[in-house]
Amino acid sequence: MKLTINGIRVTAAEGQTILDAARAHGIDIPTLCQDDRIEMYGSCGICVVEAEGNPRLLRSCSTMAADSMVIHTDTERIRKNRQTSLELLLSDHTGDCRAPCMLACPAETDCQGYVGLIANGEYDRALALIKEKIPLPASIGRVCPHPCEEACRRELVEQPISIAALKQFVGDNALSSEPGVSPPTGKTVAIIGGGPGGLTAAYVLRLRGHGVTVYDAMPHMGGMLRYGIPEYRLPKSVLQQEIDAIERLGVHFRNNVSIGRDVTLAELRKTYDAVIVAVGAWTSMALGCPGEELGGVLGGIDFLRGAALDPSDLTGRKVAVVGGGNTAMDACRTAVRLGASEVYNIYRRTRNEMPAEDVEITEAGEEGVVFKNLTNPIEILGEGGHVTAVRLQIMELGQPDASGRRGPVPIPGREETIAVDTVIIAIGQTLNPAGLEDLDRTRRGSVIADERSFRTNLDGVFAVGDATNKGADIAVTAIGEAQRAAETVGRYLDGQELSYAPQYLVRSEKTAADFADREKSPRAKMVCRSAEQRRNDFREITTVLSEQDAKREASRCLECGCMDYYECKLIDYANRYSVQPEKYEGKTHHRASADDIPNVHRNPDKCILCGLCVRVCDEEVGAGILGFVGRGFDTCVKPASEDFKECADCGQCAEVCPTGALVGRTAGKPVPLRA
Ligand SMILES: Cc1cc2nc3c(=O)[nH]c(=O)nc-3n(C[C@H](O)[C@H](O)[C@H](O)COP(=O)(O)OP(=O)(O)OC[C@H]3O[C@@H](n4cnc5c(N)ncnc54)[C@H](O)[C@@H]3O)c2cc1C
Ligand code: SF4
Ligand code: SF4
Ligand code: SF4
Ligand code: FES
Repeated sequence: MKLTINGIRVTAAEGQTILDAARAHGIDIPTLCQDDRIEMYGSCGICVVEAEGNPRLLRSCSTMAADSMVIHTDTERIRKNRQTSLELLLSDHTGDCRAPCMLACPAETDCQGYVGLIANGEYDRALALIKEKIPLPASIGRVCPHPCEEACRRELVEQPISIAALKQFVGDNALSSEPGVSPPTGKTVAIIGGGPGGLTAAYVLRLRGHGVTVYDAMPHMGGMLRYGIPEYRLPKSVLQQEIDAIERLGVHFRNNVSIGRDVTLAELRKTYDAVIVAVGAWTSMALGCPGEELGGVLGGIDFLRGAALDPSDLTGRKVAVVGGGNTAMDACRTAVRLGASEVYNIYRRTRNEMPAEDVEITEAGEEGVVFKNLTNPIEILGEGGHVTAVRLQIMELGQPDASGRRGPVPIPGREETIAVDTVIIAIGQTLNPAGLEDLDRTRRGSVIADERSFRTNLDGVFAVGDATNKGADIAVTAIGEAQRAAETVGRYLDGQELSYAPQYLVRSEKTAADFADREKSPRAKMVCRSAEQRRNDFREITTVLSEQDAKREASRCLECGCMDYYECKLIDYANRYSVQPEKYEGKTHHRASADDIPNVHRNPDKCILCGLCVRVCDEEVGAGILGFVGRGFDTCVKPASEDFKECADCGQCAEVCPTGALVGRTAGKPVPLRA
């Protein structure tokens, strides 16, 4: 018989369903409760199609094809109907498609994946997984303030997993096999700035086969990772090895070339098919108090850059560092290592409000930095054009503002003057706009880039990292933006749409009660050199985890993300049909998972009652172990009998399950990975 599907004339044999006929001709119709191994059942309603002349939508899996039928499989009405069916299924579907650690990582690194692989001793695969998102794992493992750990659920048991230390472990120990570069596309991209943002964009675009040249004003690549972060936190040799690997892919590096001075943005736009601006924030912000122009007063990043290029001897010098962030801590601790006899940190709030990481403040204190909290410089005093002292206003914390934060308020008449010969102002940094005058900028001076597509006001010019929008942030944020920007630049070079749709994911909230049965196991500690030793040199202060500690640490992971993420049809369709299940919010189930089927893990909260497992077990395997238990809203699928003598242990139930409700158990830690 002959029928028409989506305007294509197709033939179908007697007894074939519309679904069979469509599939035989390569026309895809989504299904959740159909499997060729078993009789059709027609419960999910996703496979609906329209037949001309029939006012009702038909379930294509259970409607026979008939001669002269005119079928449509993807009209607006069908899409709406599928969307509603999916939303209803998802309204009582609880779990976590992806782990909270991954969702909190600005570069969307699959933390659960590589932590699991480390637990299983698969270090090379773990490294390859990290490098899908971060081309500088050993460097980022050392310096990342790890927002992933803030979100880690293990905190509900005792302490989060040391995710960053594990990243450093594989970055240092695993063998990196570079992914192959795709054949040349003939397209070229110029990247201005070889910091983590620029290097990541270069890495991704080069792997896609584009010709990539990175221009950087400094003698070496690395940006603030090289010229801001001191050697004792990130050895330059570690960073350089990772940069060399990017160069080996065929990325061209042009150092000592400053855009604006040596070549213009307009010239790059003419020469290349696209340009990515990743110039960071390289101008130190000024304090705005008298005396700032004196000799011996310098910006935090300028001081650190000097120390990286040509360290000066500060023996016997008295140094004041203004600011409470990580740059200020790096400046304080660098000054200590360069021999300063006294190093003061001046910050106008208390230690609790300091934006620097707690460990940085503690370690700086151990190294001899004197903290002068609740003080604010009001004048830098000098003689003969050089700083001699800094006059400080004593502050107190005032009433909380609308955000709940207590602002610093001067205490009238209370001042202090400390004798210093160097003042380092580390209160923030901003874009140096030289050479980028054609780009629209925010009031704070950074380049305006669309937050999804990273486009600027100039066609073919994209911008990422510290140079853009909200300004200076952390390295992994620049890396995440560069990853996503490289994707859009790739599409731009192919002449495709630049739009970006956010992904729908199922998420759940957990409490300590959910993990009450877990045995407590303390987090691995990084070994740090003693303050007495480390304050005298620039050698790295912490040591990498041993293999034994890394494996033990990784084994603590609670495996939060769904094991079926890469195979789950439900989440695939949810995104294809732009679901909004919140519309149907109501009562949801919270039932315990069970390992009551041999070698299969069962999570009833992810079951959509499609019946595939029940029927495959009965019709195909002939065991009949599984059944629908309970009634109405509380129906669930589980072993109807507890006698497993008859279970064939074939795993077919997990195989047919379209969601993560039934998942095969594996030896070692289960890890959701792309096939
Ligand atoms: C002192 C300090 C400590 C930090 N510590 C941490 C930390 O511990 N952890 C963390 O995650 N983040 C840290 N950060 C932040 C992190 O380094 C930045 O967020 C990150 O480097 C930004 O990356 P980017 O690629 O946007 O820019 P950058 O790393 O700043 O790189 C920009 C590059 O552009 C080049 N460039 C600039 N202008 C031009 C021009 N006109 N022509 C050609 N090239 C140009 C520069 O030479 C530089 O190489 C720190 C920052 C500082 C300053
Ligand atoms: S079964 Fe699918 S939709 Fe549900 S949590 Fe797992 S991946 Fe997400
Ligand atoms: S326990 Fe594991 S999967 Fe869960 S958030 Fe922490 S690292 Fe991620
Ligand atoms: S457990 Fe069975 S009924 Fe539930 S979704 Fe999986 S296959 Fe369908
Ligand atoms: S109703 Fe047809 S596949 Fe589920």
